[in-house]
Amino acid sequence: MIKMRTEIIRVNQNHIGSAAEEGLRRGGEILKAGGLVAFPTETVYGLGGDALNPESSRKIYAAKGRPSDNPLIVHICRFQDIRHIVRAVPENVDRIADAFWPGPLTMILQKAERVPYETTGGLDTVAVRFPSHPAARKLIEYGGGFIAAPSANSSGRPSPTVARHVLEDMDGRIEMVVDGGEVGIGLESTIIDMTVTPPKILRPGYVTREMLEHVLGEIDMDVTIMRDDSGQTPKAPGMKYRHYAPAGRLTIVEGEPGQVTAYINERAAKDKAAGEKTGILGTREQIGQYQADVIKCMGNREDEERIARNLFSALRSFDEERVTRIYSESFPTQGLGQAIMNRLLKAAGHRVVRLDEAGERSMEQEQ
Ligand code: TXA
Ligand code: MG
Repeated sequence: MIKMRTEIIRVNQNHIGSAAEEGLRRGGEILKAGGLVAFPTETVYGLGGDALNPESSRKIYAAKGRPSDNPLIVHICRFQDIRHIVRAVPENVDRIADAFWPGPLTMILQKAERVPYETTGGLDTVAVRFPSHPAARKLIEYGGGFIAAPSANSSGRPSPTVARHVLEDMDGRIEMVVDGGEVGIGLESTIIDMTVTPPKILRPGYVTREMLEHVLGEIDMDVTIMRDDSGQTPKAPGMKYRHYAPAGRLTIVEGEPGQVTAYINERAAKDKAAGEKTGILGTREQIGQYQADVIKCMGNREDEERIARNLFSALRSFDEERVTRIYSESFPTQGLGQAIMNRLLKAAGHRVVRLDEAGERSMEQEQ
């Protein structure tokens, strides 16, 4: 791959001044000319290219090192634009859009002919998202209105929540990075498949099952979201790849808080004695009791929004510190907790230790 100079422009999402506006306009020109621009959204940073240009989609796969059967999400900046890229807009899509767009939700629909198979990974469906981040919306508009954007990480690494993460993976591979500071949510959008009845959640996110059911009535969940032993292939092709994974071996430990800290400390001490560099991912309530080389606090246990925002950045920092063995607390799987646990389970390759009341240990789903 040819090395290029990656330009960085800064924007303040609460006030896009004239210099930022000018930069976003230039970013739009780069996108229209077939180049790549990474940009902040309310969920994570995206790696943008013109969704209607097959060459741009090919460049996105190359820059990420991503398998090209893994489809991209097409981002729009006005709801009515959806009509140009999908075959039809069912009534329930209108209702969800009213409730959650612009925002952290992606809908799968039948694609219109003009959307190239290079963008949809060969599928006849297309993923559509209308983000709320002001800089993202301007860039999409200046870039021609239809911007394919996967998360702006190298394939397999945690998604970027600050521009520095994007540069770690993409410097010299793309034309521009729009630096909008830290993102608000920190986990990728909820994906709902609207081509099936009832609609089905393929990836949990900030818009929870409960919120969607409130608008749609009954919905399904892809069984592979929380389990690895279902014997089924996830319907969102991207969910089948090992993902979000730190370089070190991550194990999730579930049980009563006291047992969890004791178990993690014991394991970390053994690992350290065996020459490993150890890391722990914990919550404020327990963090003071841990002993390891690198200890990362994600926030208070009840503050799931903060935990979501800190998760990917904490996973990346274990890589920076070259940690080889990582232990994490577990989280309840209701509401936003489901998205947190889905990402954590993927990062751990579903390696979970459950401690029962007697303190016995059972390894489940170890691979
Ligand atoms: O929050 C987000 O959605 C971020 C920001 C940048 O918008 N984007 C993002 O894109 O997470 P990416 O490419 O990292 O994840 C897209 C997921 C993949 O798991 C992919 O397989 C799935 O969406 N997907 C895309 N098109 C699909 C389709 N037509 N059918 C089923 N799954 C699809
Ligand atoms: Mg991704």
